[in-house]
Amino acid sequence: MCGIVGYIGHRDAYPIVIKGLKRLEYRGYDSAGIALFDGNTLEVTKTKGKVADLERVALQKNSMKGSIGIGHTRWATHGVPNDVNSHPHYSNSGNLVIIHNGIIENYEPLKKELIARGYTFHSDTDTEVLINLIEDVQVNENISLEKAVQIALNQAIGAYAIAVFDKRVDGEVVVARLGSPLAIGVGENEFFIASDASPFIEYTSSAIYLEDGEMATISLQKEICVSKIKDGALVDPYIQKLQINLEQIEKGGFDHFMLKEIYEQPHAINDTFRGRLLPNEGVIKMAGIDDNIDKFLNAKRIIIVACGTSWHAGLVAEYIFEEFARIPVEVEYASEFRYRNPIINKDDILIAISQSGETADTMAAIKLAKQRGAFVFGVCNVVGSSISRETHAGAYTHAGPEIGVASTKAFTTQITVLALIALRLAKQKGSIDNSQYHYLLHEMEQMPSKVTETLEQNDLIEQIAEVYKDYSDCLYLGRGFNFPVALEGALKLKEISYIHAEGYPAAEMKHGPIALIDENMPVVVIATKKGHYEKVVSNIQEIKSRKGKVIGIVTKGDTSIKAIADHVIEIPETLEPFTPLLTTIPLQLFSYHIAVKLGKNVDQPRNLAKSVTVE
Ligand code: AGP
Repeated sequence: MCGIVGYIGHRDAYPIVIKGLKRLEYRGYDSAGIALFDGNTLEVTKTKGKVADLERVALQKNSMKGSIGIGHTRWATHGVPNDVNSHPHYSNSGNLVIIHNGIIENYEPLKKELIARGYTFHSDTDTEVLINLIEDVQVNENISLEKAVQIALNQAIGAYAIAVFDKRVDGEVVVARLGSPLAIGVGENEFFIASDASPFIEYTSSAIYLEDGEMATISLQKEICVSKIKDGALVDPYIQKLQINLEQIEKGGFDHFMLKEIYEQPHAINDTFRGRLLPNEGVIKMAGIDDNIDKFLNAKRIIIVACGTSWHAGLVAEYIFEEFARIPVEVEYASEFRYRNPIINKDDILIAISQSGETADTMAAIKLAKQRGAFVFGVCNVVGSSISRETHAGAYTHAGPEIGVASTKAFTTQITVLALIALRLAKQKGSIDNSQYHYLLHEMEQMPSKVTETLEQNDLIEQIAEVYKDYSDCLYLGRGFNFPVALEGALKLKEISYIHAEGYPAAEMKHGPIALIDENMPVVVIATKKGHYEKVVSNIQEIKSRKGKVIGIVTKGDTSIKAIADHVIEIPETLEPFTPLLTTIPLQLFSYHIAVKLGKNVDQPRNLAKSVTVE
């Protein structure tokens, strides 16, 4: 997820674009750049780092002039964060520049074709391929920039919000969107372009939000022209009056980043398997696995190291890997693993999971494993992070920046990546048959919509949170694939509401924790239809017979648990190994609403940091 900003009008573009980029840094902050045009000179300035770093570089150049400007703050998906991979990107001729938020899935074949036609590339990005495709179309067909953009985008597969400028055509910018947001601020003889309205809300409250599959030519000389990318059909632009303030916009209209990120999970899961999960072709494509498939197939053991929520995702992965790929998996707290002189063999594979890619304990565990000859694979969310550069190979989650300290979309996208790896290996090993494999791929593809359906329980969950917000303790129980989700639910409640909570395998109750049960102990029980259901029902009855309060997370349509629990929250039916992607959602919302009702600082809970880079 990146941030794009543009200005075309009568004012100096530089300060407007820079301030706008700062407002969008919550969307991505690993590199930034700006292109300015003063009618004669097109000047591109870009750098690794934050917008403040861009300002420092721009100050030294001291040539930031022009009333047309496009700027970009990056969240890398292709190509590590560095100056060259930063946006804007020039076309080969230097006449065109582009900024892009999204992922062009078929950039590799497009790049091969362009290279064959004599194009050269300076960066590793998909965006540079797109701008040269546009140039190639424009030159070969001898057509306008607008037409070239339209034709080129019909050859691109993926998601984009772009702004493109041709230095030979003063006063005109072409924008387009598919799968990534793009808003046009309409002022008095001036226009603003942005990923959301926060960069221009102080200048104008009139905005056009392009729909998916639409493009627009913004020109000072003539009216804004909106059309369909597919066929160029004109669209009547709808200019709406914005009634929201700056802070609300940055949080996408949500009260907190955490809630916004909970609701981003369908999109984040979809982005994570985009281009990797191809159910109709019966294929899972992951370069980091494909290039090292023999190491994984010959591995005697997979060791997973992580901390916190990422460790819980590793526990889910243990169940999934052993269920499908039949490879022994051990999950270790990185902080314990690094100090206990573990046995690590050369044919071991170590998978390190880290949203930030900067967690000190996880990094130390990686270095130890490498010293002892293991192959190390990383699952990170931040492209170019220290851990992603330290591991031999890896696969990124494409969750976008996770600003809230409490991990939510990182957890579900980590499970998504790990499930794809497990299924990829299972297919290669033949430990699952073809029909089961195809069924699993198609079911995985349904998960974003099932997460969306689960999110529809939010109002009910808020009502339940109201009932339990003043309790001082809470137990979370789960079995099998959902035992780690019970741990994760407890962590969520602890870290943002400061209520003591513990997660246990449901069967462990009788080995001690049941002594805690009385009318003051709420117990969240994950009781999905296929997860040792009968045994969980008897766990619930044991709790109820001791006056415990039970909140059941059940499969849609369940009536048995509804009859005995105090509350039930339903999730759509899915395959048991995929239920963690759904059962975690009510637990995220439950902890969020309790914390809000208790007046806690949900996005920055006390004593915590988003990335634990110290021991
Ligand atoms: C979970 O909500 C916390 N933010 C924390 O436990 C986190 O998961 C842990 O610090 C690991 O961080 P990482 O994924 O960035 O390595």
